[in-house]
Amino acid sequence: MKEKIAKIIEQAKLAIEQSDTLALINNVKVKFLGKNGELTQLLRGMKDVPQEERPMVGKYVNEARDVITQLTEEKTKQLAQAEIDEKMMKESVDITLDGKKTERGSLHPCTLVANEIVEIFTSLGFTLGQGPEIELDKFCFQMLNIPPDHPARDMQDTFYITDDILLRTHTSSVQARTMLNTKPPIRIICPGKVYRPDDDATHSPMFQQIEGLVVDEKVTLCDLKGLLETFAKRLFDSNTKVRFRPSFFPFTEPSVEVDLTCSVCHGKGCRICKGTGWIEILGAGVVNPKVLENCSIDSKKYKGLAFGMGVERVAMIKYGIPDMRILFENDVRFLKDFK
Ligand code: DAH
Repeated sequence: MKEKIAKIIEQAKLAIEQSDTLALINNVKVKFLGKNGELTQLLRGMKDVPQEERPMVGKYVNEARDVITQLTEEKTKQLAQAEIDEKMMKESVDITLDGKKTERGSLHPCTLVANEIVEIFTSLGFTLGQGPEIELDKFCFQMLNIPPDHPARDMQDTFYITDDILLRTHTSSVQARTMLNTKPPIRIICPGKVYRPDDDATHSPMFQQIEGLVVDEKVTLCDLKGLLETFAKRLFDSNTKVRFRPSFFPFTEPSVEVDLTCSVCHGKGCRICKGTGWIEILGAGVVNPKVLENCSIDSKKYKGLAFGMGVERVAMIKYGIPDMRILFENDVRFLKDFK
């Protein structure tokens, strides 16, 4: 019996030595130590062993199990470590290679310009005003002194949803909403999207405007000029000059178009300003007393100053963009320039 056990140990040692994967060493474990393994079989056959020899045989079998267990465990550890080492070798990274760049997004030029304009006015004491894009005819037109069927409506063609509901054609609608809900003094700046059925190199069916409104006692056209001059110098540069030209808007009296000296040629005349040295940037005026009265503001006591500008137009001037449609194409190569 002793020899038989010694032989099993020898066989196990050889099998362990020859196992070069974790799967093989596991097979060895099962073969010698498992439920149906060789040593277990021997123990099962104990009943045939003469009584007096049983303790000895039991001892040999247990010793053999300890030896084989220890050897398989050692080999398992060894193979597991070798497997890890090999994996580490294969997966090693070359730290001298270039890293993968993560692309970072950036703000759209119109958002940059709109933020800058709003920041300039908030630094001058204005607060943010807001109104809906789907608007009532009443706020977009009627309260601003543009009655139904009046020829003044021709200035802004409109997307109507019903006779009374439309997509706002200008952010001036926020003027009416604010004046109805707020007591003067009022100083608001309102950025937002507006809609018109136009589509060419300088017009888009959707674009953005920024509306400004001041309502206070004793404000005059001179204050409007000073305000817009301060704004223009901050947005472009301190040499920028402002020029008012007479114009007409139903909601202001007098009304003006406001030009700035061209930011590219500084007034000399170039392609951007079509040789004039001036660039039209916004419409403005003294709020028509009728509009104040429509909003229940005493037009004897209070005066209003208002202005409205197109964000895309300002972005085109500021960044020298020749065609408005580029701003809506979302071509990443173009947008990347504004990081
Ligand atoms: N709402 C005008 C437009 O869309 C712009 C404008 C002109 C706004 C004069 C004003 C203003 O507040 O006083 O063309």
